[in-house]
Amino acid sequence: MAEKARIAVFISGTGTNMAALLYASRLEDSPYEIALIASNVAGAGGLDLAKLEGIPTFVHSHKGLSREDHDAAMEAAAKSAKAEFIVLAGYMRILSDGFVKRWEGRILNIHPSLLPKYKGLDPHARAIEAGDSHGGASVHLVTPDLDSGEVLAQAKVAIAPDDTAEQLEARVKLAEHQLYPRAVADYVSRGNDPDYLYSKVCELALALPETHKRDSHGSPGFRVGSEKSGKFFAHFSQQHHGSEHIAILVKTSGMDELLDLVEAQPETYYKPAYYGASGWVGLILNRPGVDWSHVEEWLERSWRAVAPARLTKLLDAADMF
Ligand code: GRF
Repeated sequence: MAEKARIAVFISGTGTNMAALLYASRLEDSPYEIALIASNVAGAGGLDLAKLEGIPTFVHSHKGLSREDHDAAMEAAAKSAKAEFIVLAGYMRILSDGFVKRWEGRILNIHPSLLPKYKGLDPHARAIEAGDSHGGASVHLVTPDLDSGEVLAQAKVAIAPDDTAEQLEARVKLAEHQLYPRAVADYVSRGNDPDYLYSKVCELALALPETHKRDSHGSPGFRVGSEKSGKFFAHFSQQHHGSEHIAILVKTSGMDELLDLVEAQPETYYKPAYYGASGWVGLILNRPGVDWSHVEEWLERSWRAVAPARLTKLLDAADMF
């Protein structure tokens, strides 16, 4: 099994979601471990549990500090715990834009409503008031706009005719405790999930002009040009021929460049079986910190190498704007 992802959990209150995340992380096949529990509230109930369970804790009150300064203190603690992800669990602070941008794609939150409904406060009362059949919870990525980042997973909870907000909240909490650990586990492990990696590659490759998918030797590939006479510019390779890599194969200028890349950055590139002999390099996707704009650049370069001039001219014109 790959190394476990390290997460820092930020809390302000009782921390029941934190407890659910913590005990799920103790199951043998959990893909994440908790590196730190951090709070802006000294007496936050969850801190006692964290200490009891031997998890490092960090407390820093926000009182008298600017948002940026408080965030900087929390961020420094997360970094020194070597956290790769920040997971908000009832953390009652809005994060500064700078902090959110620095951790883009690596901060998750749980919100007790079926987003995009009822962002912000009192979601349970608002769902009951609106006569909704269901409330629930959503796990989402954190972006500078409150409760508005991509929704990763949701759990629905039926609303009873005589429900109070407190009763509904208690049942939604039960659902949250199932949902959050699962959503965090899926999210931190998607960099090793071939389906996820393939869907990302499809999105980028098929965004280039006049492209389509075509299998070749049992693996999916991408071609430019017509269905009849198009040419391959990329191949998706999933642990092929004994390789442990999930990769996209793209065209280099030739063997010299290929070997230089593999020698200089062996964690990023490899020489694939068969295709390597004709100058295709493997760009490894199942590794930490893949830069998708780098993958996109390679796909475009490879596309340019085989696309007809009328299409590359089109792209050149588009790039000028
Ligand atoms: C949860 O309802 C969560 O959805 C919201 O804050 C609450 C935290 O509860 N963001 P707890 O501290 O985990 O019990």
